Amino acid sequence: MKIIMLGAPGAGKGTQAKMIAQRYGIPHVSTGDIFRANIKNGTKLGAEAKQYMDQGLLVPDELTVKILLDRVAQEDCAKGYVLDGFPRTIPQAQVLDEALEKQNEKIDYAVNVDVPDENIVKRMSGRRACLKCGATFHIEHIPPKQEGICDSCGSQLVLRDDDRQETVQNRLKVYHDQTQPLIDYYEKKGILKSVDGTVDMQDVFHAISNVLA
Ligand code: AP5
Ligand code: MG
Ligand code: ZN
Repeated sequence: MKIIMLGAPGAGKGTQAKMIAQRYGIPHVSTGDIFRANIKNGTKLGAEAKQYMDQGLLVPDELTVKILLDRVAQEDCAKGYVLDGFPRTIPQAQVLDEALEKQNEKIDYAVNVDVPDENIVKRMSGRRACLKCGATFHIEHIPPKQEGICDSCGSQLVLRDDDRQETVQNRLKVYHDQTQPLIDYYEKKGILKSVDGTVDMQDVFHAISNVLA
């Protein structure tokens, strides 16, 4: 099964993608996590991506597409995957569709996690992320067992550099300009499934499980 997660920054794409990945036994592929891992490891790709990410801008398509296509060509993706944060532009979606068509494959579902802008800013300021394993928490809604420490791997949790309030506003603007048109794109293909992302994370997952069934 091949699934795409759509939604504004902070809508809960990552939270839900991890639960879907676990339920269906497929990898969770997040371009944001791949970039953050590269930044943490001091790679050239990381340095390049950081310039854009810290401003809330998209990393250029040329860079992003190559990384994603390399990742989904790996063996663990053979039975499917859940993409989180890709595609983010119409050209990215077109490149992905073309690559899949060549192998007689296609995306099965595009799941849109719908959360209004008002809720987003609150969520981001409370988010704490693990840059080692990609786990995310929220100081009020989803607190880690021990403050500031990742439940999964024991690393220190941080406020992401791009979760500062000014940057979140930019990310929202970029989302509306460049990513939201993908909702129409997948609607026209007949594979769009929208769920209310404002409810409790378990209830969001329940709604997603129902549309994937
Ligand atoms: P990326 O890492 O993809 O960030 P994003 O899309 O901005 O999304 P987030 O990860 O911030 O939010 P999310 O929807 O995953 O929410 P989460 O589950 O954490 O991208 C970062 C940057 O990388 C981009 O800005 C861009 O520069 C670059 N980039 C990445 N991909 C790219 C691409 N394809 N092309 C170009 N550039 C690219 O949840 C948010 C918070 O809310 C958490 O604290 C969580 O615990 C909490 N929460 C989740 N669900 C609920 C709920 N139901 N109720 C209450 N709280 C909840
Ligand atoms: Mg995420
Ligand atoms: Zn961790």
